[in-house]
Amino acid sequence: MAHVLAVANQKGGVAKTTSVSSLGAALSELGRRVLLVDLDPQACLTFSLGLDPDTLELSVHDVLLGRLSAGIVITRTSDGMDLLPATIELAGCEAVLLSRTGREHALRLALAEVIDAYDFVLIDCPPSLGVLTINGLTAADEVVVPLQCETLSHRGVGQLLDTVHDVQRLTNPRLGVRGVLPTLFDGRTAHCRAVLADVSARYDIAVLAPPIARSVRFAEAPGTGRSILSTARRSKGAEAYRAHARAIAEVSGQAAPHSGPAVVAVEPAHLEPGTAEVEPVEVETVVAVPLEAVALEAVALEPVRVEPVPIGADRARV
Ligand SMILES: Nc1ncnc2c1ncn2[C@@H]1O[C@H](COP(=O)(O)OP(=O)(O)O)[C@@H](O)[C@H]1O
Ligand SMILES: [Mg+2]
Repeated sequence: MAHVLAVANQKGGVAKTTSVSSLGAALSELGRRVLLVDLDPQACLTFSLGLDPDTLELSVHDVLLGRLSAGIVITRTSDGMDLLPATIELAGCEAVLLSRTGREHALRLALAEVIDAYDFVLIDCPPSLGVLTINGLTAADEVVVPLQCETLSHRGVGQLLDTVHDVQRLTNPRLGVRGVLPTLFDGRTAHCRAVLADVSARYDIAVLAPPIARSVRFAEAPGTGRSILSTARRSKGAEAYRAHARAIAEVSGQAAPHSGPAVVAVEPAHLEPGTAEVEPVEVETVVAVPLEAVALEAVALEPVRVEPVPIGADRARV
């Protein structure tokens, strides 16, 4: 059964849609079967993956209202993921759903019949905390919160977490919070790091590493109908999303039979270089770093060399 991840933040322009398409493409590269769900009436995910929302006849709107089964509406994208597309009609769907019993469960029920065909379902939520986002959270196992590090970002996180707690209490007790994903990140400013530290401490929420750096490559991708994983394959942004996809695949118990690059958790001051009894190893991915390291170039995805470690040490410092 698929692991379902909702990507939510009621603020627009924080890279929800970009994160869904990039993580989806990266999970697809890993050989996972991926379904993306566009839950935003602006249909940016649908457009950015090469479909014209203005000419689509069938969309997630028909599915949420129970008129069509999801399997009929799902379409394949060029990057290998499947997509349940949206059109502007979704805006009207919200009002219709409001008058229905069990409205929060419409997406979860609609996905039930296709979910076994996928390893991952990623849901692109709209920039609101309305019934569509609540449908996304009710259908999800985990929520990821993309966050642009700027003053007052924390207020949005607080409001979203209140909604998450309501959903956990009322419609989906199994919903977990995967963490905040720093996006449009500028590691040169102390401000970014301060905002992340504040959010993490204030809400006791994980900050996922590596941060996604600001790059013009992201703005170029949607116009081509492909994700940045295809348009700028070796860019830092693509590699950052690959790192997150590997972590999601591992932690969600959906690891492929092949092991891929080593994954290490990083904790400072844990090792004594020079006391080695083992060979150094190359690692490509860092899944968790201390917050103060978030802005360091060292977490920015170059393969890194781990210092020789004493036998028995199970954690590494990079
Ligand atoms: N890391 C990044 N660097 C620069 N631009 C980005 C980055 N991530 C996303 N963008 C751009 O920011 C804009 C908003 O991103 P989008 O994913 O649509 O946000 P949301 O879905 O939260 O509204 C888009 O133009 C997108 O191309
Ligand atoms: Mg969006």
